[in-house]
Amino acid sequence: MSVRRFEDHQPAIHTGVYIDEQALVVGEVSIGKDSSVWPMSVVRGDVNSIEIGERTNIQDGSVLHVTHDSEYAEGGNPLVIGSDVTVGHKVILHACQVEDGCLIGMGAIVLDGAVVRTGSMVGAGALVPPGKVLESGYLYLGSPVKQVRELSDREKRFLKYSAAHYVRLKNRHLGSAY
Ligand SMILES: CC(C)(COP(=O)(O)OP(=O)(O)OC[C@H]1O[C@@H](n2cnc3c(N)ncnc32)[C@H](O)[C@@H]1OP(=O)(O)O)[C@@H](O)C(=O)NCCC(=O)NCCS
Repeated sequence: MSVRRFEDHQPAIHTGVYIDEQALVVGEVSIGKDSSVWPMSVVRGDVNSIEIGERTNIQDGSVLHVTHDSEYAEGGNPLVIGSDVTVGHKVILHACQVEDGCLIGMGAIVLDGAVVRTGSMVGAGALVPPGKVLESGYLYLGSPVKQVRELSDREKRFLKYSAAHYVRLKNRHLGSAY
C-alpha cells in the first residue's frame, strides 16, 4: 500500500482500514475505522485536507482531491466524506462534502463546494455542479444533476447494506493480503 507524507502531514489511518496496495493516500488525510480504499484510487490531501468517516468505501479508480487557498477560492475547500458512504468505481470527488449514508454512483463527478446531504443517491455518470446542495433522501441523475424522486424504503435500506457489504469485503481482502 502507498501511504505517503506530504510536508508536515502524514495520513492518519485508523486501524481496520483497508488501503489496497495499488491505491495512493498522501498528505493531510484522515480515514476512520473500517473504511476502505480500493485499487487505483488516489486520495491526495496536499493543498487542503481530506476527511473520510467510518465504514466508507472508495471504490476502484476514484480520484479525491481538494482546492487550495487563492484569489479564485478564498480559503480553498477541503473534502469531507461522512460515514457509511459508498463511492462507486471511477468517481471524482473534488473539494466537496458528502454526508453520511450516501451513494455516489460509478463515474459521477462532484465539484467544489457541492454538498450531498445525508442518505441521498447520485446516479452513475452524474455531474454535481460547484456549490450545488442535494437534498437528503433523494435520487439525483444527469449532467448537471436534477432531482428525480425520493428514494424508496428499499433503496434506503440498500444504501446501508452497500456500506456494510464493503466492510465485510475489505475484511476478506485484509485476511488474504498478508
Ligand atoms: C439510477 C439507478 C439507481 C436506477 O434507478 P431506477 O429508478 O431503477 O431507474 P430505471 O433503471 O428504472 O430507469 C429509469 C430511467 O432513468 C434512466 N437512468 C437510469 N440510470 C440512469 C443514470 N445513472 N443516469 C441517467 N439516467 C438514468 C433510464 O434510462 C430510464 O430512462 P427512461 O425512463 O427514459 O427509459 C441506477 O441506474 C444507478 O445509476 N445506480 C448507481 C449504481 C452505482 O453506481 N453503484 C455504485 C457502485 S457498486
